[in-house]
Amino acid sequence: YFIGVDLGTSACKFLLMDERGEILNITSGSYDVEYPRPGWSQQNPEDWWRAVREGVPELLAGFDASQVAGIGCGGQMHGLVALDEKDQVIRPAILWNDGRTGEQVRFLNGEVGISRLLKLTGNIAYAGFTAPKLLWMRDEESELFSRIAHVLLPKDYLNHLLTGEYATDVSDASGMLLFDVERRTWSDEMLELCGLTPAQMPRVYESYEPIGTLLPEVADELGLPRGVVVAAGAGDNAAAAVGTGAVGAGTMNISLGTSGTVFIPTAEFASGVGDRIHSFCHADGAWHLMGCILSAASCNAWWVNDVLGTDDMAAEQAGIDGSSARADLPYFLPYLMGERTPLNDVNARGAFVGMSMSTTRSDLTRAVLEGVAFAVRDSVEIARSLGVDVTTSTVCGGGAKSRLWLQMLADVLGIELVLPTTEQGPGYGGAMLASVAAGAYPSVAACAGAIVGERERIEPKLELTAAYERRYQIWHGLYPALRDTFE
Ligand code: XUL
Repeated sequence: YFIGVDLGTSACKFLLMDERGEILNITSGSYDVEYPRPGWSQQNPEDWWRAVREGVPELLAGFDASQVAGIGCGGQMHGLVALDEKDQVIRPAILWNDGRTGEQVRFLNGEVGISRLLKLTGNIAYAGFTAPKLLWMRDEESELFSRIAHVLLPKDYLNHLLTGEYATDVSDASGMLLFDVERRTWSDEMLELCGLTPAQMPRVYESYEPIGTLLPEVADELGLPRGVVVAAGAGDNAAAAVGTGAVGAGTMNISLGTSGTVFIPTAEFASGVGDRIHSFCHADGAWHLMGCILSAASCNAWWVNDVLGTDDMAAEQAGIDGSSARADLPYFLPYLMGERTPLNDVNARGAFVGMSMSTTRSDLTRAVLEGVAFAVRDSVEIARSLGVDVTTSTVCGGGAKSRLWLQMLADVLGIELVLPTTEQGPGYGGAMLASVAAGAYPSVAACAGAIVGERERIEPKLELTAAYERRYQIWHGLYPALRDTFE
């Protein structure tokens, strides 16, 4: 068996997979995000570890734990976990959707300069990336910054507690802006620029490589045999791509989780595009492009759970007729946490636009779904402008449970969507990486080819694609018109 861990923003999920890819059990534990100021978001790494200590034994209950051969994690990307020399967490992890680093981003993109960043790392600075967070700590919490002995990403912190190693993988390291994505190694120049030394950085592995085995006392506590291999694992998007079979050029995956991502594998490193779309290492040994919107399914959670005050997402969506796109429907901008792709604007905010006396509750619920689909389309359009032929994509993430939303996304993008055998993207991919690390498959591609299947295809309704096209063009004018009100 292999254990896949999906270290998400709202919860950590665990799945038990056998060697043929059958999912035997799933457990999860949730935790909170702190928003200490508007646009800030942070989390306690200890909460993730608590979820592991509870979730893994629960996962194994009723199964023969001695059969477990490997663990692999797909983790929320970019988060800064800073440890002191006693391995204590110095401050809450600053997460991927945190917007406190506007000033550091301006310094990096403005003074260091976009062309130098592209040359050194393949990418430019966004507030959620790790390098601006380290600069922020240096500027705002200099005493804490001076105590940093180890810089880790969220899943690397779990892997460290599991194995004692300080390790990361190429896909997650790509999102730090400290990593030379083309050469798959740290950029010493970027480290220096951020006041760091290579000794503070974890050792870099390919995502499917083993970084070590479980510490004996951890194995005993979790109820696992000693000798279980821990894979380097991957950022959650690369892991989700593996788990949905988006491996190799010509494939693509869209994730509708807390964030929304468009993930496009490429055979080679894409040079000079990182100012429009992320250009990162993939978990299969190659590379990928990725657009990321900061608030996707979290917009629904905000609207339905927090504002409308109900837990019944399905009931809220039940009254919506997705078979037409009326011109009098209101519009929604999903920038509740600012926006990454394509705006790179920490001050962007959400908006409902175009209500009338006849606008209903379900019209607004629908506008939220549509606004997120339009924001996803922005990333798809960047990929198209770079010559990517986008015709089919797999989808995963919590949002993929809504048929209404999936059909709307297919209609808005004008592409066919494929539901893979499981919607457990990052966890399934994590387990697959573990199976390669433990030697059950010779490569990520071989593993994906052997076990990832397809459940269903959703075709776009082309007459709706035309109606959404017009609405997308109008929606596109809203952010520029409203930008000055967001400061
Ligand atoms: C990707 C990103 C998010 C997180 C979500 O760049 O920031 O998708 O990885 O966990």
